[in-house]
Amino acid sequence: MERKKRFVQVGTGGRARFFYEALAKDFADTSEITAFCDVNHLRLAYAQKNLMENFGYQKVNLYGADEFDKMIEIEKPDCVIVTSIDRTHHKYIIRAMELGCDVISEKPMTTDNVKCQQIIDTIKRTGKHLRVSFNYRYAPHHSQVRRLMMEGVIGDVKQVHFEWLLDTSHGADYFRRWHRDKRNSGGLLVHKATHHFDLVNFWLGTRPKQVFAFGDLMFYGRENAENRGITKFYYRAHGSENAKDDPFALKMEGKENMENLYLNAESADGYLRDQSVFGDGISIEDVMNVLVKYESGAIMSYSLNAFSPKEGFRVVFTGTKGRMEVEVTEVSYVNAGGDKAMEGAAKTRSIKVFPMFGQPYEVDMERGVGGHGGGDPVLLNDIFGVPEYDPLHRAASHIDGAMSILTGIAANKSMATGMPVNIDDLVKF
Ligand SMILES: NC(=O)c1ccc[n+]([C@@H]2O[C@H](COP(=O)([O-])OP(=O)(O)OC[C@H]3O[C@@H](n4cnc5c(N)ncnc54)[C@H](O)[C@@H]3O)[C@@H](O)[C@H]2O)c1
Repeated sequence: MERKKRFVQVGTGGRARFFYEALAKDFADTSEITAFCDVNHLRLAYAQKNLMENFGYQKVNLYGADEFDKMIEIEKPDCVIVTSIDRTHHKYIIRAMELGCDVISEKPMTTDNVKCQQIIDTIKRTGKHLRVSFNYRYAPHHSQVRRLMMEGVIGDVKQVHFEWLLDTSHGADYFRRWHRDKRNSGGLLVHKATHHFDLVNFWLGTRPKQVFAFGDLMFYGRENAENRGITKFYYRAHGSENAKDDPFALKMEGKENMENLYLNAESADGYLRDQSVFGDGISIEDVMNVLVKYESGAIMSYSLNAFSPKEGFRVVFTGTKGRMEVEVTEVSYVNAGGDKAMEGAAKTRSIKVFPMFGQPYEVDMERGVGGHGGGDPVLLNDIFGVPEYDPLHRAASHIDGAMSILTGIAANKSMATGMPVNIDDLVKF
């Protein structure tokens, strides 16, 4: 019998189970996960217990974050899965490759251009393979847009107008924990918009060239709340009287996953999952507008709002043969807080094509099953199973990973300096 492919995983929080549960369930014949690594020993133990109790899995080995090298030496994995917080991705990607492993990393690949360059240089030096898991590409409606573009339905795309809305549940969630510190996540233009900028690169088959951006914290944060007349504040929701009337407060009590992952694990590292979105110390933006010029010559105006009453997006393309309007409202969700299959699922969606001289028409779409609009199961098969030939070329390499974060990284620099930023000045491939 052929030897199973060996995996270890760094970061055992909300997202981690997407990968390790798939390995334990759907890909158990060909793959095995042998160890977890994290700074928090209680979250480590919870992941180990979940695998044993719910998947009848072997007892995997647990390692602290300071034991990463030891883990690689003992476990001898073929591949390391990185699902720790964003600012740590580069550290584990680079070290894993230096120690002879391939890597699958959650998005964003990393948070700034210096770390991005270090990753690119390590890949060149070691010849190892890095895969960034862009699940959005696999959602049926996103794949359909790519198909229509490849068929040339609207000709060469010259202009894109892209608006993404995060609502007061999902959007607020980035302001409750580590993402709210820009050093941890690169802000939403890197952490979140990496998905959106990747989609545009993928849909248009091009790369960003120049970026200009404005953005600010205009709704969340204590000062904004004070300016709107709010007087009742609290640090974190758990145990707070003031939080009881706050519709933005996250309630972890009674939610098994939230309690085990976060509330009951706080004593190990002080990670508070339910901080007030109207607290001090938030350094990311909640309103962002970006202009991008692409190598193909196309230009895009993009906006992201994190306190919208509705969740979803609208993207409009104008090409040399017509216009395409894509509109999706999504089911709102809080990471680790609810039904996994609903994550990023579409409530309503439409793709309308307006040929330059013909009758407008609506495009039929398949309905996907599973998280992120049906994208997650297809992505999992692509990374852990036997990938089938994909005419859409959805598998994302480290170059795609880099290209998707560079728009956001350039936008961050532009917001800081008030100047446009050339992508070529950020990293050398
Ligand atoms: N593709 C998607 O749709 C999607 C969805 C959610 C999260 N994510 C990504 O997954 C990653 C994890 O997000 P999450 O929501 O699970 O966050 P989380 O806070 O639930 O979990 C993060 C984990 O990282 C651990 N960690 C922190 N510092 C560490 C260090 N120095 N070394 C090792 N482990 C460390 C924490 O203890 C925690 O267990 C992020 O990069 C995020 O962008 C992707």
